[in-house]
Amino acid sequence: MVGFAASISTLFSSLPMGLPIDLLPRAAVAYVHYLSFMVCFGALVLERRLIQPNPGRKDAITMVITDVVYGLAALALLGSGILRVLYFGQGSEFYTENPLFWWKVGAYLSVGALSLYPTVTYILWAIPLRKGELPQVSEALAKRLGWILNIELLGFALIPLMAVLMARGVGLPA
Ligand code: HEM
Repeated sequence: MVGFAASISTLFSSLPMGLPIDLLPRAAVAYVHYLSFMVCFGALVLERRLIQPNPGRKDAITMVITDVVYGLAALALLGSGILRVLYFGQGSEFYTENPLFWWKVGAYLSVGALSLYPTVTYILWAIPLRKGELPQVSEALAKRLGWILNIELLGFALIPLMAVLMARGVGLPA
């Protein structure tokens, strides 16, 4: 009986091979961070591929849905990032004392601010689409949206570079 209790307590205090139990939530939050990053990037690539003057109904609806998925994934990215800073990382000061961390947050917020323009545009598309009409997208608007998406993609490619450096303490004051 004592042996059983001991093995139960061992089961719940550590994973097989003696790994600490708090590894699971840490790994789960890190996984959500990576997954949401990939979904954001994938959504932006799809939007970039689909943007064109006067899109057809199918493409326009796909753009609207893709942007909703992008928005949700961006929130999950932010939420999991905050959780990692506060509870599942290397201690909040490890990050907040590093200027690279603030550059990363700044880059994320800038990309987020930039994506407001496409998002508002797609929301407005929902009005004609609901009436069974097609959104009017001029050549100039399609080009502008294409450029904004290019810059967002560049931002999303650079943020992981800041992340990997930050995670290894690069930028921390000596
Ligand atoms: C405000 C938003 C964000 C916050 C607060 C945040 C926070 C964090 C934290 C605390 C870590 C853990 C670092 C460590 O292991 O010590 C991390 C890792 C990482 N983040 Fe973020 N993050 C944010 C946004 C992003 C974005 C937008 C991306 C991608 C575009 C991203 C990509 C990564 C990657 C790739 C890692 C892994 C780095 C490594 O372990 O080598 N993060 N982030």
